[in-house]
Amino acid sequence: MTLDETVNAAFASAFPGVEAPSARVVPATDPRFGDYQCNDALKIAKKAGMKPRDAAQRVADALDRALFDKVEVAGPGFLNLTVSASWLASSLAALDAAPKCGIPQSGAGKRIVIDYSSPNAAKQMHIGHIRSTVIGNAIDRIFRALGYDVVADNHLGDWGTQFGILIKGYRECLTSAERENLTVASLEKCYVLSAAKAKEEDGAWKDACRAELVKLQQGDAENLALWRRFIDISIGEFERMYAKLGVKFDTYRGESYYNDMMPGVVERLVKAGLAEESEGALVVKLEDEKLGVAIVRKSDGGYNYTTSDLACVESRVAEYAPERIVYVTDDRQQLHFRQFFSIARKMGVTAALVHVPFGLMSFQGKAISTREGNLIRLDDLLAEAKRRALDIVKDRGGDERLAEQIGYGAVKYTDLSHDPATAIDFSWDKALALEGNSGPYLQYAHARVCSLMDKAAAEGAAPGAFAPSTPAERRLALQLLEFPGAVVRAAEAYKPSVLADYLFQTSQIYSSFYQSTPVLKADAAERASRLALVSLFGRILKEGLGLLGIEAPRRI
Ligand code: ARG
Repeated sequence: MTLDETVNAAFASAFPGVEAPSARVVPATDPRFGDYQCNDALKIAKKAGMKPRDAAQRVADALDRALFDKVEVAGPGFLNLTVSASWLASSLAALDAAPKCGIPQSGAGKRIVIDYSSPNAAKQMHIGHIRSTVIGNAIDRIFRALGYDVVADNHLGDWGTQFGILIKGYRECLTSAERENLTVASLEKCYVLSAAKAKEEDGAWKDACRAELVKLQQGDAENLALWRRFIDISIGEFERMYAKLGVKFDTYRGESYYNDMMPGVVERLVKAGLAEESEGALVVKLEDEKLGVAIVRKSDGGYNYTTSDLACVESRVAEYAPERIVYVTDDRQQLHFRQFFSIARKMGVTAALVHVPFGLMSFQGKAISTREGNLIRLDDLLAEAKRRALDIVKDRGGDERLAEQIGYGAVKYTDLSHDPATAIDFSWDKALALEGNSGPYLQYAHARVCSLMDKAAAEGAAPGAFAPSTPAERRLALQLLEFPGAVVRAAEAYKPSVLADYLFQTSQIYSSFYQSTPVLKADAAERASRLALVSLFGRILKEGLGLLGIEAPRRI
């Protein structure tokens, strides 16, 4: 029985016939008052017409005392619980034996689509693409660990007016060698050149771009083949970045995939009385919900982002029947998602639709923009992370692989350790700090655990039964038991930062345990039980970092 279950059983037997609140036991805010507390006696007191303290006392008397060393009624009717050594030992043993360090399989049988990264094709990924990729991937990993059937979908920006400009640019602005060995860099170059010419006075270039676009939209074989090539090259380049970041998608369905479905969507919107004409355009009015007006067909007959996301959601629902669909994008798209979710619900979509908006990232104190000259390519950022990490590890005999693990981990952790909703600043010093809340700090803590375990093994010492007794051991033990809960909370809030916070806090608690408590030098029995704690901490740290997409090398 979990503590929650135990306390709920006590509520039920203390107040037969009274509908009990679903009681929750939470870690004590102050260890002086015990290990855990429960504040729900206050609620049942009202229903039972009792004084809160008396109600709490009645629950206290009904508790299974074998699990607790001390049960106290405090303040207006709080229950302060100090768990027994045997409860602690058996809970640790259960956690240790459970697969995935006890992460509950609450998502079994449930499907969820996660739409993240989703860069625009024919451009190189830059520093601004980190957040959606890294936050989305951590959410992806966390939900998979909970047993969900996750469909990770990369909703590429692979359709639209830019392809007219690109096709024209490809034909006229590239050398034949560049055309033959086409790269994303040359696509980017010909786009810039072609777009600049399209701005020229006489408008001939612009018209030509427009004509290429129309041909593409009408299915012209040559333009379609070019477009396909641009997309394949883009995906190849994106996958090179994703491989470095350990990111994998199940599908790459860009906006183009939904292109043919858009007229049908608009037709249904009109039939359902949701869309109406307004100045030549077709709009859905959402003013009642203070969401303004969403255009679903422009006056020139073209569709837009809202229409494409509506077609996309219908397609995902039909194909995957997901319980939820999660979209990870920057917070400037909030209105778009509110509008589109509202329309989707009116069209009968019942799956939960969740937007996880993230704040802007600045780089070393400066806004990221082409003008600031710091629109750093993701490839270059990762190369520099690796180079800087190599400087740190090479004195200790670290190799390139280790430098990647630390450098890329540092970049990811900087992002993931902050609440996605907040704006963040990326700085090399903070990202790569060996002390403080950083990726390398946690990786280093893990590596130290591995070397301690290796040393123990060399001395013939092995982890044994859990028997935490000192305050520092108990503190660490209680914290380790919170791991599954931290994973669940991170998922519920769509905030990998909840897990990052937990890991950092746990590492600090471990570090004070380690400073105050002899392990290898302790008596055989204590040594065995302490090694069990150390080893469980190491496994939890590795598992948790893995959920953030960060590797945990054994040696640093
Ligand atoms: N391509 C878009 C961008 O670069 C993000 C797409 C997000 N996904 C979606 N279904 N709208 O901002």
